[in-house]
Amino acid sequence: MTVSERIEQLKSEALSAVASGDSTAALEAIRVRFLGRSAELTEIKKSIGTLSPEERKEVGRSSNRASREIEAALDSRTEEVAAREREERLREEAVDVTLPGVPFPKGHLHPSQRIIDDVVDFFVGLGYRVAEGPEVETDYYNFTALGIPPGHPARTMQDTFFVDEGLVLRTQTSPMQIRTMLAQEPPVYVVCPGRTYRRDSDPTHTPMFHQIEGLAVDKGLTLGHLKGTLAAMARHVFGEDVQIRLRPSYFQFTEPSVELDVSCFICGGTDPGCKVCKGAGWLEMLGAGMVDPGVLEEVGYDPEEYTGYAFGMGPDRMAMVKYDIHDLRLFFEGDLRFLRQF
Ligand code: DAH
Repeated sequence: MTVSERIEQLKSEALSAVASGDSTAALEAIRVRFLGRSAELTEIKKSIGTLSPEERKEVGRSSNRASREIEAALDSRTEEVAAREREERLREEAVDVTLPGVPFPKGHLHPSQRIIDDVVDFFVGLGYRVAEGPEVETDYYNFTALGIPPGHPARTMQDTFFVDEGLVLRTQTSPMQIRTMLAQEPPVYVVCPGRTYRRDSDPTHTPMFHQIEGLAVDKGLTLGHLKGTLAAMARHVFGEDVQIRLRPSYFQFTEPSVELDVSCFICGGTDPGCKVCKGAGWLEMLGAGMVDPGVLEEVGYDPEEYTGYAFGMGPDRMAMVKYDIHDLRLFFEGDLRFLRQF
């Protein structure tokens, strides 16, 4: 076979390979195979210098023509195949915007959390700071520093979980009063939401529950400031129309101590058969009072210079009243059918 015949053969091999090349990658491989640096046609061109002058002319012309034809065939076939590949890709990657989405379940705030957020927002709006503290608390902060020394009957009343010698699960958020005052100088304006624990379980008591403590210490604070602050808070949480009343009470760390009732925001005290207030017209809401001078002394504040008020409320109870829920245990069972209602 002459060199020219071999060139013709390579050309027709290449053209039929191109014609059946059905992807841009396959066509690129064909280009390398027939026109690449070590392709046979390329070798032939490199060897032209060793040929006789007549052969040289003939082989030069036919090899160049063969390259051009293969090149042209590759170009047009590649264009065709690339267009088809592009279309296929578009078809495969198409997004059907009319398909229904995957539903993402919406979360709910727990009823207690809604009250906590509401109360905390209210006090932050008045300029109070939010402080949080440990749930495993020392006996000293939870009791002694609050006027409840070892052996005091109030310790039994609070159904305490004892963790270890000198450590309890806090039975109230009131120890945050002591922690806050020890950590700063007056004036103090804080609210302290958190979990608290007592050995108790029935429809209105759970071993874990929430409290929100409040403390203000400044020059010249009176029971009037306490009353005005709590009245504004009650209206913020339960509605503009609610009234409050203070009843005398007793706590070891306040003097005088009060309990605060809120007028029934369901019947306003007009319905003797009201399910929420049971006809009383009032709902017990929280404990409060003027900080006992002994407590101020305990933390190194001068009770001659400063006075303060404190209050402690149960947001779970408040949620029961606000959302008309009769069993506190439902709050902590994690049943979604219950939680979804809020
Ligand atoms: N810590 C009290 C309790 O759990 C509630 C309380 C009463 C908090 C009076 C106070 C307060 O700050 O002044 O029963």
